[in-house]
Amino acid sequence: MKKLFAAFVIAALPAIAFGAGAEVELDKVDIDLTDKAALQDGARTFANYCMGCHSAKFQRYERVADDLGIPHELMMENLVFTGAKIGEHMKIGMQPSDAKTWFGAAPPDLTLVARVRGTDWLYTYLRTFYEDPTRPYGVNNKVFPNVGMPNVLVGLQGRQVVGCKQVQVVEDGKKQYDPLTGSPITHEACDQLTIVPKSGKLSEAEFDQKIHNLVTFLAYSANPIKLESQRIGTYVLLYLAFFFVFAYLLKREYWKDVH
Ligand code: HEC
Repeated sequence: MKKLFAAFVIAALPAIAFGAGAEVELDKVDIDLTDKAALQDGARTFANYCMGCHSAKFQRYERVADDLGIPHELMMENLVFTGAKIGEHMKIGMQPSDAKTWFGAAPPDLTLVARVRGTDWLYTYLRTFYEDPTRPYGVNNKVFPNVGMPNVLVGLQGRQVVGCKQVQVVEDGKKQYDPLTGSPITHEACDQLTIVPKSGKLSEAEFDQKIHNLVTFLAYSANPIKLESQRIGTYVLLYLAFFFVFAYLLKREYWKDVH
């Protein structure tokens, strides 16, 4: 019976993975929760571009300011647009029922989204909105097909369309290079997302960096205690180093007469 169950699970795995949308390859992102500059930039992007629709209601402004090293006045000026006080939770005014009428789905709270979806998924999702005239807001998404969210970052990224592009050949997971010249071997693929040149404020690399920072902030928001434990860890090590000196001096004192 156990074997039968195991066989069933193994047989069902591809279906489960498919259901989770794993058929699209995700772009990898390295997240460093100690990178204060990335966190601050991400928090600013979040407040400016996301909090019109999404809350982070398990998080307080004050906590974010303190964790990220943002002075309270600057936080109030640049990141709090809802008339909230510094000690309040990061809620928004939009009613879920209204949002449902407008977008077909209510924008979920994003405090914990990095835990639910993973950072690679978020990084890919936020960079793969593309024009699709069949959708109500004229955009679709590579990892979230038929998404209800409009492409709010189009002004920064520019218009992204499906088109043809030279892409590097990959075999067995390895990028292929010409053995003689060392240059990448490419082929033309026509299901690729390409950005219409000069249609956005940022270059592709700058936009990727912005999203990297935003995802860093979302990763922090889903696990704020991680930053705190690192900070506490530093104090613990400092304390141990300090204590060691006195323990050593004390030991020397005790053993002085023995020798
Ligand atoms: C104009 C309103 C609006 C704005 C602004 C907006 N979103 Fe959304 N977002 C939505 C809606 C609506 C959905 C639900 C889509 C669905 O379920 O089809 C959504 C879904 C999402 C999801 C998927 C959540 C999940 O797990 O299903 C993520 C992640 C997300 N938004 C992140 C962001 C980020 C980051 C920003 C800021 C850059 C942002 N959104 C700005 C409306 C918005």
